[in-house]
Amino acid sequence: MTLGVIGAGHRGAEAYADYCLRHPDQARVVAVAEPDPGRRAAMAAAHGLPSDRVFTSWEDMLAGERLAEAVVVATPDRVRSGPVGAAADLGYAILVEKPVAVEPGQLDEILARVAAADVPVAVAHVLRYTQFFRQIKRLLDEGAIGRLIHLEQTEDPGYWHFVHSYVRGNWRRSDTSSPLLLAKSCHDLDVITWLVGAAPDRVYSTGRLTQFRSENAPAGAPERCTDGCPAAASCPFYAPRFYVERLRERNTWPVTAVTADTSEAGRRKALETGPYGRCVYRCDNDAVDHQVVVLDYADGTTATLRIGAFTEANTRTVRLLGSHGEIEARLDTGVVTLRRFLPRPGAELGGAPRWDRDAEGRSGMPDDEVITTVTAPVDEADLIAEPGRRESDGHAGGDDGLMREFLAMVWERRERPDATPHATLPTTLANAAVSHRIAFAAEESRRTGAVVTL
Ligand SMILES: NC(=O)c1ccc[n+]([C@@H]2O[C@H](COP(=O)([O-])OP(=O)(O)OC[C@H]3O[C@@H](n4cnc5c(N)ncnc54)[C@H](O)[C@@H]3O)[C@@H](O)[C@H]2O)c1
Repeated sequence: MTLGVIGAGHRGAEAYADYCLRHPDQARVVAVAEPDPGRRAAMAAAHGLPSDRVFTSWEDMLAGERLAEAVVVATPDRVRSGPVGAAADLGYAILVEKPVAVEPGQLDEILARVAAADVPVAVAHVLRYTQFFRQIKRLLDEGAIGRLIHLEQTEDPGYWHFVHSYVRGNWRRSDTSSPLLLAKSCHDLDVITWLVGAAPDRVYSTGRLTQFRSENAPAGAPERCTDGCPAAASCPFYAPRFYVERLRERNTWPVTAVTADTSEAGRRKALETGPYGRCVYRCDNDAVDHQVVVLDYADGTTATLRIGAFTEANTRTVRLLGSHGEIEARLDTGVVTLRRFLPRPGAELGGAPRWDRDAEGRSGMPDDEVITTVTAPVDEADLIAEPGRRESDGHAGGDDGLMREFLAMVWERRERPDATPHATLPTTLANAAVSHRIAFAAEESRRTGAVVTL
């Protein structure tokens, strides 16, 4: 299959286009639109693109004929409805990054244009493509924990990733990108909606920017870490420690977000002049650094989501509490633990409860059922231990899973144009619309303090 890439940044180049290099039997990149000359040239070289298939922006690429069967739209958060609408008009199958829109009006506009063009759109809610979340969904659907009563999810990007993206980086301000909940956690709201199997009726949220504010700067801290900061040794966010020392061997994201020249001199120069060398207490950020969302469903189910900057690990955790059991799961280890309140059907019910084991350690309750799903390393220690790891292993296999299933759908569309294979895509624009509306409601609640009814 043939693919155009719009926005050849971290996601466009390293997640999606790179997949084509690793799976040339499935697809090849035949066109790129990218304003940054270095990124544009790198894509053209990596994929052997002729000059008439290399464009400086989505407008140029989508001005003429359709050049491929599908496009990936991996532009910044606020460059979305334009390329998606134009690509839909040309009949492309579209893989679009999240968030698909940063405000309700934009979402309605995209939904209308895509519906009018009747093209398949896959949204990059990659968590639905992970074995991890699919395993949890399977257990829920099998009734392993009975009726779901409460779901508790946490999203912890890790302190280093948080300051990289949401204090110093591209997602630090909601007026130039999108609020943290939309930028980072529309994934979580999507997966929660999928697991619960419904949209909530009522949404409440609270959250603040508490730590990364000028009044918390260490005494004497200059504007940049590289200006001789007296707190360098005691500050966890000292930029050269991370980008120059700990990630010395790494030359993909997050280093490529800092500089295209990943030599030590290139990194140091970028930290001295670019956004990623700024003191985390002296940036122009307004993204909250911790937030909680409470979701209330018509059937009595409740759910909570917490996101924040203050963890070492970069992971997600989920607990699902049911009438007949519970599930505890952690994405970075891939481990899903099921505890039933009763033995499996047909098994003997013993005597003592789990917390009251006999001298041999036996209990009358079923043992934990531990399922380890295949995952990819996503925490900082792994980034450092495996500097050569390709980012396209990203999101616990979700990135590759999304590309594989998206391309399978494009193939079906080519082979059987009368069928609607995209109806079975796990992440459609319609289900993304639900999670985005929850995020808009949660932001409204956070700003106003009110409970918002959907
Ligand atoms: N699905 C996920 O898990 C996930 C993870 C990270 C980021 N994202 C999302 O993916 C999107 C891209 O993020 P990124 O980290 O790759 O950012 P990035 O800044 O590395 O890449 C965006 C690219 O788009 C290019 N661009 C800007 N204007 C353009 C135009 N008019 N035409 C064509 N290209 C244009 C930029 O020059 C840049 O190279 C964002 O919306 C982000 O929120 C999703």
